[in-house]
Amino acid sequence: HSSSFQKRIAHIPLVAVHNNMTTRELLANRVTEALYNLFPDETNWDPQLTAATRPEFGDFQSNAALSLAKKRKMNPLQVAEQIAQNIQTNDICEQPQVAPPGFVNFTLKKQFVASQLQKMLADPQRLGISPRERKQRVLVDFSSPNIAKEMHVGHLRSTIIGDCICRVLEFLGHDVLRINHVGDWGTQFGMLIAYLKEVKPDALDNSSTTSLGDLVEFYKAAKKRFDEDSVFQESARKQVVALQAGDEDCIRAWSFLCEQSRKEFQQIYDMLDVKLIERGESFYNEWLGIVCKELEDSGVAVRDEGALCIFVGGHTGRQGKIQPLIVRKSDGGFNYATTDMAAIRYRVKEDKADRILYITDAGQSLHFSQVFEAAKRIGYAKPETKLEHVPFGLVQSEGGKKFKTREGETVKLKDLLQEAVRRAEEDFRNRLQAEEREESEEYIKRVAQVIGIGAIKYADLKNNRTSNYQFSYSKMLSLQGNTAPYMLYAFARIQGIYRKGDLDLTDGQSESIQFILDDPTELSLAKMLLQLEEMLFLLERDLKPNVLCDYMFELSQRFNQFYENCPVLKAESLPRRTSRLALCKLTANTLQLCLHLLGIPILERI
Ligand code: ARG
Repeated sequence: HSSSFQKRIAHIPLVAVHNNMTTRELLANRVTEALYNLFPDETNWDPQLTAATRPEFGDFQSNAALSLAKKRKMNPLQVAEQIAQNIQTNDICEQPQVAPPGFVNFTLKKQFVASQLQKMLADPQRLGISPRERKQRVLVDFSSPNIAKEMHVGHLRSTIIGDCICRVLEFLGHDVLRINHVGDWGTQFGMLIAYLKEVKPDALDNSSTTSLGDLVEFYKAAKKRFDEDSVFQESARKQVVALQAGDEDCIRAWSFLCEQSRKEFQQIYDMLDVKLIERGESFYNEWLGIVCKELEDSGVAVRDEGALCIFVGGHTGRQGKIQPLIVRKSDGGFNYATTDMAAIRYRVKEDKADRILYITDAGQSLHFSQVFEAAKRIGYAKPETKLEHVPFGLVQSEGGKKFKTREGETVKLKDLLQEAVRRAEEDFRNRLQAEEREESEEYIKRVAQVIGIGAIKYADLKNNRTSNYQFSYSKMLSLQGNTAPYMLYAFARIQGIYRKGDLDLTDGQSESIQFILDDPTELSLAKMLLQLEEMLFLLERDLKPNVLCDYMFELSQRFNQFYENCPVLKAESLPRRTSRLALCKLTANTLQLCLHLLGIPILERI
């Protein structure tokens, strides 16, 4: 059917035809086709197909009749009736139903649902989802902590959200560059280098194995020295100039400081199992002058009170004056914005990025909107280049207060991650004791690690990223509700049921499995399984990982309803038993894939 159908609608540009259409896309094409046949003189055949807003409407609804009728001064109910009569959906849906004031409602046929499930079952890795035909090069700028400064909870959020987004885009077949834009350049290095030379001169020795210990403490001490001593301030300034000029000693001191920080950051990335390519601000140093020249020559930037400025966005500052984007300060120094301009230039020109995502807190929204606008104006970003700031809210402690330790100190990320693992271990040991189970130490440590780190990630990702999020160990480690432990247990339990059934799903076997979806809970679970791809496409577009968590939670709940209502291992007949075991397997595979996309490994048993 599909090939002749694709030929027929080849001239309809509204819904692109690709090899792997979701059910919604498939149906949308059919609506478009019907609209085209009914109203060939129209210019817009938008099917306006969405998931049904109410269960009694079926699975999908088209609102196209409403706007068409209005435009053509017709009765919307009649237009809807015409669409329902004309549309060819016999292979997908029951006869479409019309509802006032002009909706066309679609209910999927069980047979169609069953055949889709078969495709998913035959492909346990990708669950029938092919990689995108139009592959994009996506550069994701995330994590990005600053050298010698604290890597704080904001960077943790960026790391977790960024990694999840990368995983989803990678899964969909895009070419993803995971870039760590570390703050490894700037005037603070003058102070740090001057201080290093004073207190640890041996660090400059190439063969030195010296370590700085706590870098944040070092930063604080240097800052204190800087604030108190004007002679020191002068030498710090000289170090900046020397560093910029490429002075060997300074470069060595700078590399030493970067290396120290890098080791600390890496510990966090290892704990989280996140991969990043470090390409810090210093990388763009050699282009900063060129960028300013190009900006000035093209007239995109102008001199204003000695500074080189780009007037974008019309943001007014305190005195009601428009705040421009400054790319060169009046003292000749470059800044954060200059680096970001040079970075876009490089990422489009050299990396050939089609889409660039910046995962930072919402506080940087203005900065990015100005930088994006400037980059478009100068042409560093092509008109089709997608530049997107992916903002997120603050991490707060319970009750919405600032996130601090009890002593009022900032929380060290390593401590925070370790504490989650420690608590997960405690919970697990209690459980083992209550169940009188014995497990090896190695196994207990593994479970604690997966649950503890998984809980931190999940708790962060399940929130709408733009809202502030309240950090709570007890909530994220709870076995009830939308949490990582709940999902991990759900997976292990469902996988366990499947294993007990001894169903042969080796190559070729799965195609012969007939799904029987007679019980409403079976059908409802099946339809949720079918929504996986649509959900991922939504995530690809909106970059909101919470839709993934919501999907998993809903899926596991529908599974529970199914399991309450339909005996699996003791099903009424062999075909039913087989079908239900296959539903268990599909649910487990789907949960596994979703967990993987969130950056959480599964445990076969807990
Ligand atoms: N280092 C910055 C910070 O800690 C984040 C950098 C984000 N990326 C960028 N290209 N500006 O806030």
